[in-house]
Amino acid sequence: MDVAHTSAALEDGPRSYRLKEAIAAMNTVKTETLTDLPALAGGQPVTRKEFPPYNTIDDAEKRAVMEVLDSGVLSAYLGSPAPEFKGGPRVRSLEDAWAEQFGIKHAVSMNSATSALCAAVAACQIGYGDEVITSPLTMTATATAALANGAVPVFADVEPDTLNLDPASVAACVTKRTRAIMVVHLAGYPVDMDPIMELAAKHDLYVLEDAAQSPAARYKSQYAGCIGHIGVFSLNCHKTIQCGEGGIAVTEDDDLAMRLCLIRNHGEACLDGFDRPDAENLIGYNLRMTELEAAIALCQLAKLEKLNEGRIELANYLSKRITEEFDCLRPPNLAADRSHVYYFYPVAYDAARAGLPIDLFAHAVQAEGIPLLARWNKPLYHLRIYQQRSARGQTGWPFVPPWYDGSVSYDHGICPVAEAVGESLVFFETLLRWPNTIEDMELAVQAIRKVLDGRHALLAVDDAPSEGKKS
Ligand SMILES: Cc1ncc(COP(=O)(O)O)c(C=O)c1O
Repeated sequence: MDVAHTSAALEDGPRSYRLKEAIAAMNTVKTETLTDLPALAGGQPVTRKEFPPYNTIDDAEKRAVMEVLDSGVLSAYLGSPAPEFKGGPRVRSLEDAWAEQFGIKHAVSMNSATSALCAAVAACQIGYGDEVITSPLTMTATATAALANGAVPVFADVEPDTLNLDPASVAACVTKRTRAIMVVHLAGYPVDMDPIMELAAKHDLYVLEDAAQSPAARYKSQYAGCIGHIGVFSLNCHKTIQCGEGGIAVTEDDDLAMRLCLIRNHGEACLDGFDRPDAENLIGYNLRMTELEAAIALCQLAKLEKLNEGRIELANYLSKRITEEFDCLRPPNLAADRSHVYYFYPVAYDAARAGLPIDLFAHAVQAEGIPLLARWNKPLYHLRIYQQRSARGQTGWPFVPPWYDGSVSYDHGICPVAEAVGESLVFFETLLRWPNTIEDMELAVQAIRKVLDGRHALLAVDDAPSEGKKS
């Protein structure tokens, strides 16, 4: 403890006078000394460690990229019915390896998961007048994939414990316009898929899975993303494995796979060559992945299991320690029939029990040197395009006639759980990643304990930022 530093803080005006009183209060309630003062209240942080950035690129990726560059073939697609309709050698190797590792018939690579989600909706021939039920707690692309095809997203509520779609709320959203359910395996934790699949079968709906955050998470005997009609994974730079930008769509269905390939290529140019029936007319957007990204993704795929294992080990440890130590924090759900791959690590925070507002808590833990964030994004329907019901200028597209004549609601309050649950979440986005260790988890526990024990001093300093963030 830097006593000189603390003394200076104590002599520094009326705010520090309140601090002095708070420390006195702390010391009468408990036995802490100034050494225990939270960093935000003038103490020393638990750690000054610089947590290294998540970098899993090594010699294998560098060699693979150089081989592509040396070959001079950076992409080898043809928009015609030739073998190159499905891309060059690395693209095809990546797709074969992905399909084999995930035990699924087809993997179709694209330039992003956003592209793959849009292509998935298009491949199911979903468009004007159709509704796609999805989660309001996700990244925007999940829902805009429906919009990009002219279909209307309908937001069902989530389960408070898992943050994933609540099957009962999904059932209540089904109308005669519903064509698909787009689930999101949020944060790396699989949705309860059995009731979703039953509901879809009952109403003859497609099930699309946004597994962007959940590569190789398991639901019962299957992988998340490989249960519905089409699943989508992301290989963007934030994900567990990456190639810069990239996405993979997977399916068991030969016809859907072919349509995905046509859409990611220039499908309209080769419909005749492939002898597609008129009913399957479609256009392609060139959503192709290059040989460079495919070469990197192949190396990364080989590391997926190890990288997931590392995150799971850290998360299991942290969950155990949080459960032992803090009754104001509830670690992520983990049902016996599922695995979690912890794209991020959400924790339910009970501010009343903690005796500290959520932003002050998170800010104080950050000040201890631990990267904890507070609050999740607001539900998607709070975005302007939904509130104004117009996704193109002020045309109303595609929410009004002649495109759509339904009565979807984006009113505040339609998903009360989704609206409330994000407000009481704190989460680690980067802490539970290689090369961080169990010792780093202990630093996090220490920081949380110090902040909670020092709540009186923190309340006195009253220095919380107004908004947390999650991007
Ligand atoms: C749940 C979810 N869906 C879709 C996407 C879009 O992925 P991409 O950046 O590969 O387009 C992301 C990316 O952050 C995501 O987290």
